[in-house]
Amino acid sequence: MPAKKPIRITDVTLRDGQQSLFATRMTTEDMLPIAEKIDSVGFYSVEVWGGATFDVMTRFLNEDPWERLKLLKQHMPNTKLQMLLRGQNLVGYRNYADDVVEAFIEKSAETGIDIFRVFDALNDERNFVAAFKAIKKTGKEIQAAISYSLTEKKLGGPIFNIDYYIGKAKKIEEMGADSLCIKDMAGIISPYDAYELFSKLKANLKIPLHLHTHYTSGMASMALLKAIEAGADGIDTCFAPFALRSSHCAVEPFVVSFQGTDHETYFDLEIIAEIDEYLESIIPKYMSFADTTRFSVMDIGVLMHQIPGGMISNLVSQLKQAKAIHRLKYVYEEIPKTRKDLGFPPLVTPTSQIIGAQAVFNVIAGRYKMISNEVKDYFYGLYGKPPVPVNEEIKQMALKNYAKGNISIDTRPGDILEPEMPKAREALKGLSEDMGDILIYALYPMTGLEFLKKNRVTPHYNGS
Ligand code: CO
Repeated sequence: MPAKKPIRITDVTLRDGQQSLFATRMTTEDMLPIAEKIDSVGFYSVEVWGGATFDVMTRFLNEDPWERLKLLKQHMPNTKLQMLLRGQNLVGYRNYADDVVEAFIEKSAETGIDIFRVFDALNDERNFVAAFKAIKKTGKEIQAAISYSLTEKKLGGPIFNIDYYIGKAKKIEEMGADSLCIKDMAGIISPYDAYELFSKLKANLKIPLHLHTHYTSGMASMALLKAIEAGADGIDTCFAPFALRSSHCAVEPFVVSFQGTDHETYFDLEIIAEIDEYLESIIPKYMSFADTTRFSVMDIGVLMHQIPGGMISNLVSQLKQAKAIHRLKYVYEEIPKTRKDLGFPPLVTPTSQIIGAQAVFNVIAGRYKMISNEVKDYFYGLYGKPPVPVNEEIKQMALKNYAKGNISIDTRPGDILEPEMPKAREALKGLSEDMGDILIYALYPMTGLEFLKKNRVTPHYNGS
């Protein structure tokens, strides 16, 4: 008997789970032995690709990301495969030209992606235009995500209030999204805020609603349950060994909690236990990438300062390199100020890195004595439009000798970017004509090329 109100459960173990806990280092070789069993559980979808996987695989694992996707598709033919796409940033850290967006999505759909979860770090919906168009063309599902952000302790205040999220959500629905996801990358959504937000979203939207949150602050399972009570249609979970900490809620407690209710999952806990056992067996290989600095599974710092866990580890390594780790406290104080100067962008890749790095410069060298190229590009408008206006004085300072000009653009960033695929094709001449390879180069001209030179046997290639 099917559940009266089944909840769509997306397993994110093989992408966000391993990215959050083990720096995205899980190999395809370790995924394949368990893929068929995961496929048999009955998930709505499995997120297996995107986010940092593409970069880490070519840079550190010496693995072809397209090959992983192809193999996972072969081993998981019954469950929809999902990826996280950073809007016009794709799986990189800057906005790419429209021709790269189109080619990347076409190739991803062809290789196995069924659901594209698309977000933009600034929640600038213009950065969805090219991606939506390309996904529509492939006939696959567009799941648009809104980056969940706060400036106050709770949902509300002048910027990230209920009206902000409802307004964004309605616009995205009108643009043709098939479903909507609230993407809480830092794990800061509280249960009652989740209830309020999903009640209002449900009242205002027709498309299915998902909540993606991280366990970091310890509120996640309460938030998911309250969101479901408010009408949310889908949640993201991991298998227990890859759950909690900066990862996600575990699926097992939900399976049991929903037994005998309208949300019954009918997942077989015996099968899940076998998957868990396998996952436990490979974890020792990845423990060197885990954060073992504390025993607590939650980071109460996030409840206090709302800085995402991944961002903190970046700050710490940047400060250590500069031999200034003793100034971490000042960087924490500086981050909200830098964020305000930049018009309060949500803290998610790549804005979290951009703001984190600039805040470190501001503390070490003095405020805006050193300005990163990314901050200059940001002020110029290459990442899109921030939620509120930026600090004009600092913008002028940043664009003073900026190569592209000192007057910022207010068009969709994709509109001013020259096509990039012809150059990528040209650069790989004699090395590879494969579309997957051309995309690896287009996305990562330096590390991508290194990867291709290592892996494509080509005696005639003389390119540098
Ligand atoms: Co996430």
